[in-house]
Amino acid sequence: EDTAPEAVFEATVAADERIEPRDWMPDGYRSSLVRQIAQHAHSEIIGMQPEANWITRAPSLRRKAILMAKVQDEAGHGLYLYSAAETLGTSRDALLDKLHSGRQKYSSIFNYPTLTWADVGAIGWLVDGAAITNQVPLCRCSYGPYARAMVRICKEESFHQRQGYELLLTLSRGTEAQHAMAQDAVNRWWWPSLMMFGPPDDESAHSAQSMAWKIKRHSNDELRQRFVDICVPQAEALGLTLPDPDLTWNEERGHWDFGPIDWTEFWDVLKGNGPCNKDRITRRRQAHEDGAWVREAAAAHAAKQREATR
Ligand code: 3HC
Repeated sequence: EDTAPEAVFEATVAADERIEPRDWMPDGYRSSLVRQIAQHAHSEIIGMQPEANWITRAPSLRRKAILMAKVQDEAGHGLYLYSAAETLGTSRDALLDKLHSGRQKYSSIFNYPTLTWADVGAIGWLVDGAAITNQVPLCRCSYGPYARAMVRICKEESFHQRQGYELLLTLSRGTEAQHAMAQDAVNRWWWPSLMMFGPPDDESAHSAQSMAWKIKRHSNDELRQRFVDICVPQAEALGLTLPDPDLTWNEERGHWDFGPIDWTEFWDVLKGNGPCNKDRITRRRQAHEDGAWVREAAAAHAAKQREATR
């Protein structure tokens, strides 16, 4: 049987087995994984900002404790993902430099503001819900460290989604003003959540190759449709409406038809013109500078440990 590295790589991927860090892999496979995993990690870290905005103003100790746990989880997700990216031979510092200088992206969704407490619920239900729909298939990605990081992340995302759903249900069944606040948040977060799945398949630069390498297991549009199908009955259970008058059940397709997405808005936000792009990056750079002393202390401590065990 052909033992040339390319052939072994192809056979491993074809057999739905895992490529591990020490295995030979095409340069393009390596660089596309660094690109995707790094941007995924950046999304987790930046995603802490919109929600952290409400930790000091949570309406009860219980809600505050849940929100703090969730924001801490996002930091942990960033940690697993930067570690997975490092197995491909890149350093965390290099990836953070790329984020801070705008040479790498983070998910468009985090460039929208969290205007009311209900946004915390809409983010949990819709944004973490979309993340689960997109990330469960990534547990079967061909690259071992990424797939394994996803298994734990998906478990924690389920808690994130449930707490958001429960928060919205409480508001929806509350006073009229609370119901209106929940509906307003869903109206603002629905379309940007659909954009999380990426551009339409025919405008997706990476999908074909990413699916051939079994990194991406389903196309952007397929997962977006799956997410809409999940959300429609959940919105009904919440007693809230989705802001899309074109939403109709299509018996033939067995899916919900939905209205056109504003792709001009999507590409505009990716270009840096979303409502919060500048704030998010400014806060991120500031946090990185403020945290320099922690990194230096940890590095000095590690060096002493190494010295002591020499
Ligand atoms: N926001 C920002 N950039 C996006 C985007 C979005 N919503 N959707 C697509 N893009 C970018 C892609 O990164 C690519 O740009 P690049 O070449 O500079 O990387 C370009 O738009 C073209 O898109 P493609 O469809 O060709 O790119 P991909 O094949 O990489 O598909 C993806 C995009 C579906 C987001 C895929 O990268 C992916 O599945 N990534 C892992 C999941 C992830 O990153 N999720 C972030 C959501 S936030 C989150 O999970 C945190 C949780 O706590 C909510």
